[in-house]
Amino acid sequence: MQKVRIGIIGAGGIANNHAHYYRQLPEVELAAVADIVEERAKDFAVRWGIPPSNVFTDYVEMLESVELDAVSVCTPHAVHAKPTIEALKRGVHVLVEKPMASKAADALEMYRAARASGKILMVGFQTRWSPELRAARKIVQSGALGKVYYAEATLGGRRRGIPGSPSFLKRELAGGGALLDIGCYAIDNMMYVLGHPTPLTVSAVTAAAIGPQREAVVEGGWGWDPSMFEVEDFAAAFIRFEGGLTVVFKESWAMHANSLGSAFVLGTKGGLKLSPLELYRDEFGFMTTTTFVLPQVDIYRERIRNFVEAVKRGGPSPIDPREIVIEMFIIDAIYESAAKGREVEVKLPPEVLKP
Ligand SMILES: NC(=O)c1ccc[n+]([C@@H]2O[C@H](COP(=O)([O-])OP(=O)(O)OC[C@H]3O[C@@H](n4cnc5c(N)ncnc54)[C@H](O)[C@@H]3O)[C@@H](O)[C@H]2O)c1
Repeated sequence: MQKVRIGIIGAGGIANNHAHYYRQLPEVELAAVADIVEERAKDFAVRWGIPPSNVFTDYVEMLESVELDAVSVCTPHAVHAKPTIEALKRGVHVLVEKPMASKAADALEMYRAARASGKILMVGFQTRWSPELRAARKIVQSGALGKVYYAEATLGGRRRGIPGSPSFLKRELAGGGALLDIGCYAIDNMMYVLGHPTPLTVSAVTAAAIGPQREAVVEGGWGWDPSMFEVEDFAAAFIRFEGGLTVVFKESWAMHANSLGSAFVLGTKGGLKLSPLELYRDEFGFMTTTTFVLPQVDIYRERIRNFVEAVKRGGPSPIDPREIVIEMFIIDAIYESAAKGREVEVKLPPEVLKP
């Protein structure tokens, strides 16, 4: 059997998760790794059985000198676009970590590179294999909710959960904070459930509320160095969509509250709470609440397995990158609206609108 040869770009925390699941697939060979920190690349290669000759500090050199079918791009958010485009240009399929990029313009260039090469570009939202979200999407698609007019998108927020690494906190590497890091999930989850409606306008706020405080209590209670913190730890937005639908988005890395609540969807004939999944309706002359018996799924395993299957088939991407580019334009609009202090338009280029 011809092996699927995989390269890893960025050998930090999440790259090990990719390698773990690639290694469970007998048809996959972990063939090469690149990280600007040489020690990290070398350690990674030893851990995952990559030959020393295929360890690089420059991913372009890796792409030039090793025959690869696909790469996992596991660099900080603002470093997703360049390696992705370089790989696609050379005919290599790409699984890039979330968020797709740190800004919409980069995401659009990545999408264009994928279209030009005809190769797979998959943004690694493992949540797309969540049984809860899949069930919610089916329920919305079935029409059981009637006309959907309002939804709230959130993962519930963290009381304290600011990532400790510069990859997430330094503007140059991260591009933004809680909105990009976990807000991208809240937005993708909701867009997926609602069937990817077209956004029109955004009115938003962001805040750096807890992160800049030296005396802030962080997870575990150890010392916190606020000089690392250059991004936002809170974002909220009021997003209008075509067809009279509104979504309120809110996400937090740190706050003086336990929870921002669950994401939910309201329709004229029914409502849904996403986590845990519950369906609210009027039935038999009574108000009913339906709960679901859902399978246990290892969503990280599914994302790697589905990516590799798509590579073997030669496409298409299990997650349409066009959908994620649109979400990046929403995120851009949230930052723009927060900076300007007023509502802004979501300026979608015609090429990402539904064909
Ligand atoms: N899907 C998930 O559940 C999940 C979980 C964690 C992180 N992530 C995403 O994965 C990405 C990386 O996060 P992480 O926690 O692994 O960060 P990390 O800081 O642990 O690792 C990033 C690695 O990229 C390397 N790097 C930076 N610039 C590079 C370049 N130009 N070329 C090669 N290597 C380079 C760094 O040296 C570092 O080793 C982020 O975008 C994050 O949002 C996703």
